[in-house]
Amino acid sequence: MYKIEKKENLNPTVTRMVVQAPFVAKRAKAGQFIILRVREQGERIPLTIADSDPEKGTVTIIFQVVGQTTMLLNEMKEGDLLQDFVGPLGKPSAIDGNKKVCVIGGGVGCAIAYPTAKAFHEAGADVTTIVGFRNKDLVILEKEFTDVSDAYYLMSDDGSVGEKGLVTNKLEDLIQKGEKFDEVIAIGPVIMMKFVSLTTKKYGIPTTVSMNPIMIDGTGMCGGCRLKVGNEIKFACVDGPDFDGHLVDFDEAMSRNTAYKDFETHKREETCN
Ligand code: FES
Repeated sequence: MYKIEKKENLNPTVTRMVVQAPFVAKRAKAGQFIILRVREQGERIPLTIADSDPEKGTVTIIFQVVGQTTMLLNEMKEGDLLQDFVGPLGKPSAIDGNKKVCVIGGGVGCAIAYPTAKAFHEAGADVTTIVGFRNKDLVILEKEFTDVSDAYYLMSDDGSVGEKGLVTNKLEDLIQKGEKFDEVIAIGPVIMMKFVSLTTKKYGIPTTVSMNPIMIDGTGMCGGCRLKVGNEIKFACVDGPDFDGHLVDFDEAMSRNTAYKDFETHKREETCN
């Protein structure tokens, strides 16, 4: 069992939890994820490792309450125990300290973008960060990002914080002003990653996206997380979660992600009643 050491709300729907999981903490690298179960009969959900401390034996996860399991997880308190906490899973992100990179995070995807930005920064890379949220109440990890970024740009859909506009507006603006990025890394809603990839393709900038499809076993056996990348079928849990953004079939990924929406809504309503 895995003890919740700390729990804190980052915004009305996003929570940060620090969990005692020494074996995972010892091996975790940026870009990897864990699969957890809140209780014995519960569903398995994948969550990216937002941070880890090998000395304290802790792993930080950040999640948004979107379905039944994240709702149950959010009801847990400091000191409570999680049933399972398996990882680290997936391939670590490829971090190159000699690069000038632009890390783009959208919404709760910023929880995944942050460890990537931090890893590039610690390796010595020049890190520009662009983050986007719907409005000021949803902004998370502002201080964490500014601490690891050479330049930080905050965008919001309604202009209530930072600059009004999309992350792609800022990216294109910076490129047109002469910024030369060796790589762009985009992490957030699939639609955002699709449009970041379309933007960078025009300029020939290598682009990595972090895919977070439905996962079941996390070991490459069930096929639940399959994606079309170029002409190949890949499994996000073992081949990813990072992929070449210019090759991912985002439209297929979006339609697979919505396949269980009605079922999920039903389960969430059952939990609320
Ligand atoms: Fe089952 Fe990836 S989660 S193959």
